[in-house]
Amino acid sequence: MKKISSLIGVILLCSVITAQNVFQNIPNRKTTTLNGKWHYIVDVYESGYYNYRYEPRDQKEHPTNEAIFLNLKPNDRSDLHEYDFDYSPTMYVPGDWNSQDEKLFYYEGTVWYRKTFDYHKNKETNRVFLNFGAANYRTDVYMNGKKLGFHEGGFTPFYFEVTNLLKEKDNYVVVKVDNKRKKEAVPTLNTDWWNYGGITRDVDLIETESTFIADYSVQLQKSNANLIEGFINLDGESKANQQVTLSIPELKINQTVTTDDNGWVSFNIKAKKINYWSPENPKLYAVKLTYNNQTLDDKIGFRTIEVKGSDILINNKSVFLRGISIHEENPLDGRRAYCKEDAELLLGWAKEMGCNFVRLAHYPHNEHMLRLADEMGIMVWEENPVYWTIPFDNHDTYLLAEKQLKEVMIRDKNRASVIIWSMANETPRSDVRLEFLKNLAATAREIDNTRLISAALEKNRVKGKENTLGIDDPFMDYVDIISFNEYVGWYDGLPDKCKRVHWEIDYSKPVFISEFGGGALQGLHGDRLDRWSEEYQEDLYIKNIEMLRQIPQLRGMSPWILTDFRSPRRMRPVIQDGWNRKGLISEKGTKKKAFFVLQEYYKEMMEKWGK
Ligand code: GCU
Repeated sequence: MKKISSLIGVILLCSVITAQNVFQNIPNRKTTTLNGKWHYIVDVYESGYYNYRYEPRDQKEHPTNEAIFLNLKPNDRSDLHEYDFDYSPTMYVPGDWNSQDEKLFYYEGTVWYRKTFDYHKNKETNRVFLNFGAANYRTDVYMNGKKLGFHEGGFTPFYFEVTNLLKEKDNYVVVKVDNKRKKEAVPTLNTDWWNYGGITRDVDLIETESTFIADYSVQLQKSNANLIEGFINLDGESKANQQVTLSIPELKINQTVTTDDNGWVSFNIKAKKINYWSPENPKLYAVKLTYNNQTLDDKIGFRTIEVKGSDILINNKSVFLRGISIHEENPLDGRRAYCKEDAELLLGWAKEMGCNFVRLAHYPHNEHMLRLADEMGIMVWEENPVYWTIPFDNHDTYLLAEKQLKEVMIRDKNRASVIIWSMANETPRSDVRLEFLKNLAATAREIDNTRLISAALEKNRVKGKENTLGIDDPFMDYVDIISFNEYVGWYDGLPDKCKRVHWEIDYSKPVFISEFGGGALQGLHGDRLDRWSEEYQEDLYIKNIEMLRQIPQLRGMSPWILTDFRSPRRMRPVIQDGWNRKGLISEKGTKKKAFFVLQEYYKEMMEKWGK
């Protein structure tokens, strides 16, 4: 039965891929970066997109001069033009616009970007794709005046084929990015993070042969440590009945498989003496895919992940997740994080704290984080931005949430570090919300039956029992790990309340505390009752850790949060000034006293549970 279900899972993943715009393993493909300075135009009224009758100009047969995506210049001194990219300012891509132009610090709306470039294909028959690591939130893309398409969602990759539009000289890409928050979007209107807008991740041109390896999965079969299974998916006219070779030299694997009529082939290969990936041994194997003289290299770790009773098992060994929550933000620059150096900063701090786990909140982070976590042996919780009051009764919103979930699962399916897919964060309970989350979880399991499913739920008081907390969220029946946020000592009483709390969780699943914490302005000192002092936060951590120890199924935590982060909700002058102060590290990179409380606890957990 297992074999059939995993084959179904693999087939579904393939079907999802053809319906999705996600390129596998861009870092190891032949790419030309379009990163760098792009001209930009702030278009508050979107007059470059809508005409005065509010009709989209890109749906008119003859768009007039004001259509910014045409990148027009006056031909004649009498011509009427009301924009000009060449005389407009520039900003860096990747990068949010808020931190690059102080006039855009709070801006929520449309910005147009333009990049010009020449391009010479290595071979006439080759194909070229334009790929975006992400752009927040709605992105409409045009090349040489033609609309390529659009993408909705601020944290997942997308691409367009541009083979037939590309010229040798003077190509121009025009991108409309609109970061306005919307009720029916994912996330919805209200969040507790900065709504950074713009082309926030890498932009690349990818050149491929006419038929090429578009996607693949190479992982251990669920709960079978000796079987490597997966699929390879070709794209192109001659994709049918093609031979593709998968080689993993260190495992003496060199298997040639043949694609079906759709250019797809699944495989399972017995493997002996695998050196398994784990936090103490983040072993990555060189994996090479070869097709028609094309090779695609990747580095992939192999490990099993499962739950048994209240234990979380990596390679059949019970682990304790010594985690921390992280937003995708470089606090030193107060901007969206996007590059390998940002990933090294954030994961370096986590490692210094003694973490073997990070919760990448509340949305998919850039791929540099996942590939570095693979190398550093840090396990990862990835999260879909189904956050707070999503309109759970809106089917289009569901489809959007499902699409973003699929996009990150396709991108990161070969990353050993990813062990948990989180469906949501702190969503208010209702029948429609349960249905929404159940369906998301079912889709996730269909696509990937190997990783664990969870969501950051909310604790509740146990009826009729003084100071007794528990969790009775019906979604618990659909997750592998019971995760919830608790703020005893911050939103719920003072830290001393921790001593009076009794936890009642009668569920034989692992329990993971996805958030606890409290704010402190780094450098503000007082005693443990002075809210916002480092001493208050330190005392809160000491008392929460003591309180949480009493939960017998406790198998990890990711306290909120590694560093202070920007949030428009946090407005108190002198103390917050637009920053959420629950970080254990300040926006200047200075560790607060509570950092060392958690570091000490993780030392103890490492001695007790192993690395
Ligand atoms: C919530 C939420 C976070 C938020 C935090 C806070 O639990 O999940 O996104 O930042 O609490 O209030 O600081």
